[in-house]
Amino acid sequence: MRITRILAFTAITVLLVSATTEKSHRSALLQYDKQIDGIISKMTIGEKVDMLHAKHMFVSTGVASQGIADMKYTDGPFGIREEMHPDNWNPLGLENDKATFFPTGSALAATWSPELAYAYGTGMAREARLRGKDMLLGPAINIQRIPTGGRTYEYLSEDPFLNSIMAVGYSKGAQDNGVAVCIKHYALNNQENNRGSVNVIIGERAMREIYLPPFRAAVEEADVYGVMAAYNKVNGWWCAENDILLNKILRNEWGFAGMVISDWGGTHSTVNAIKNGLNVEMPDKRYFGKALLDSVSAGLVSEDLINQRVREILRVRLAIKPVPENEANKEITSQPAQHKIAYNVASKSIVLLRNDGVLPLQLENKPIIAVIGANATQKMATGGLGAGVKTLYEITPLEGLKDRIGDKARIIYAQGYEAVQFSFADRFRKRTPEEIENAARQKEITAQKLTDEAVEAASKASLVIFIGGNNRTVETEGSDREDISLPYGQDKLITSIAKVNKNIVTVLASGAPNDLNVVEPLSRALVISWFNGSEGGNALADVLLGKISPGGRLPFTLPVKLEDSPAYYLHNYPQGTKKSDVFANLVSKTDAAEKGVQEPDKSQKSDPNSAYYSEESLVGYRWYDTKNIPVKYPFGHGLTYTTFEYSKLKANKKKYGKDDEIIVSVNLKNTGEMAADEVVQVYVHRINPAVEWPEKELKAFSRIQLLPAESKTVKLLIPVKDLQYWNEKTHSWDNDLCKLEILVGASSRDIKLKKEVILK
Ligand code: BGC
Repeated sequence: MRITRILAFTAITVLLVSATTEKSHRSALLQYDKQIDGIISKMTIGEKVDMLHAKHMFVSTGVASQGIADMKYTDGPFGIREEMHPDNWNPLGLENDKATFFPTGSALAATWSPELAYAYGTGMAREARLRGKDMLLGPAINIQRIPTGGRTYEYLSEDPFLNSIMAVGYSKGAQDNGVAVCIKHYALNNQENNRGSVNVIIGERAMREIYLPPFRAAVEEADVYGVMAAYNKVNGWWCAENDILLNKILRNEWGFAGMVISDWGGTHSTVNAIKNGLNVEMPDKRYFGKALLDSVSAGLVSEDLINQRVREILRVRLAIKPVPENEANKEITSQPAQHKIAYNVASKSIVLLRNDGVLPLQLENKPIIAVIGANATQKMATGGLGAGVKTLYEITPLEGLKDRIGDKARIIYAQGYEAVQFSFADRFRKRTPEEIENAARQKEITAQKLTDEAVEAASKASLVIFIGGNNRTVETEGSDREDISLPYGQDKLITSIAKVNKNIVTVLASGAPNDLNVVEPLSRALVISWFNGSEGGNALADVLLGKISPGGRLPFTLPVKLEDSPAYYLHNYPQGTKKSDVFANLVSKTDAAEKGVQEPDKSQKSDPNSAYYSEESLVGYRWYDTKNIPVKYPFGHGLTYTTFEYSKLKANKKKYGKDDEIIVSVNLKNTGEMAADEVVQVYVHRINPAVEWPEKELKAFSRIQLLPAESKTVKLLIPVKDLQYWNEKTHSWDNDLCKLEILVGASSRDIKLKKEVILK
């Protein structure tokens, strides 16, 4: 039954894409094709096939006989990864490969600043060049579908528009500075559990409107040169051999002219993969080595097709100037210009969720401040599975606070809780029952000791800065979190602290949502400071002390509880584990019936390798706002140390045709006493649509800096074309010309002004 449905779906999709094969963008890469014809004509079939698989873990072969250099790849996405042994994951232990640790994806997205995204890409590219790399394995731009997703910290946001803008900024910044980007993971790699086996079952409309737009924007607007095929399957086909995703949509529709590489170990076949659009198998040659040569000899793969795949790689190779071998790694990777970028992003990413006036900190009376929490001293550049950064330095929150506060206060520090650090050895070591019991007992003793020390520190202090949240062991590639609760007993700890000192400022250094139900009412101010890069501690101190006003806005919704989030609510995630049954009864029949995509029956849902996306487009705030589900903090939320007044919302016309642009203008005034940035957000609500829509959708935003009493007219643009929907009947983009409400505000739930316009 399941298979039938997937096949039926696939057939439909094939139809759809062949109906819309018009390329929407012309890549600069096409200019090299004449030259490439000459190169290919001189290559042997062996040389050609050699280009289509790894030479080393992070290198693929050029054309040595014609002086064409190898392609050198680097992780990405938030710092240049250290040099490793060519054929395994062991570090080489160089000195010069220490890089700048940039704030991770959710922090970058929290800036809501395409300019900072561009600067970030610039910084990444400069350091990649110093290391002699050609292609950066990033940005990572998948939609944050589930709050527990292991790579939420790496990805950007829950919204396709915000992701698109930031992905374009990052990619342009990098490619303008001589390094190709490789956007990843294409597509629908929205969970880490079972990522190497899961089949994502999704309807066309949600795929087109929610999950593909960031990739499309990066191709069409930033002309990205590389795409990494994800590990998972989409509608029955592995992403590295997915004709619909790679050939039909990416190449034929969007006009992508560059190269597709597999995720590491994500290739599953020879003939299908080469035919359906993969260029390079990384990091092996299991399918694209001898097996591919044999397939050519056997007539299963034509040499023309091999030429085409080689051509797509050579286009990138010719567009990116190789760094001569003897110039790479001459200087240390991490450079002051990048430290500045890391600081700018970090300081503008920090989100102030609530504040009763305790922030910015007042230090007039030389207070005693108890800084409590393991994340005050935790470095976030590495940890867990997956790419980390061997960083030149990382300022922790405690270091930042001590440095910036100096002798203006007395800081005492208590660790408060024990954070388990990731270790390969521990992860895969079997323990005896005695060892497990002893470890549990020891854990309890340590927890009590650390709590006692924290409570004592808190009782001596006039203010507590609690610095907790997740870390890179909790949020990691390769597995999702089991829940969103604060790890290591932090809720219990803060409850004990609050009994002796109610003056608590809480900072959560997390890359993804946490459950705030305990911590929030016990905190006079609540701040999210992310995994915030080499300069994270300095940025945090500057925000807490009021040197700069907090300016980050949530890139995701903070739900009241995990079970409210769409994939959990609908029992679409987690799949096939005992835990998933906890929410089974929450799936209401009506919800299921209302959906265009059929709810899978129970037995299908328990298949660990099938991820049903039956929430369709209702991801993130689209879900909470459409279903009227209360949230802790809405998407787009973030306070500052000032106040803003919104007035005079205008649209340039009353009626708009399908090719028009809606120009919205609004007056923004800083009515407080401090310079600060506001992020003006424009959502649209359809009043009388012909098809179903989420309650509201973000369609424009602008980050504006205003001095006290200053005001500005902010102009925002919405092309009517951007309001189209994917018509699943005609398999193409379509207009729903209806009455619209333009909603302007400071978050998805803080709408200040509204204006009706008509699409006709
Ligand atoms: C990750 C990619 C990464 C690659 C190389 C994979 O496990 O999914 O994002 O670029 O490894 O390190």
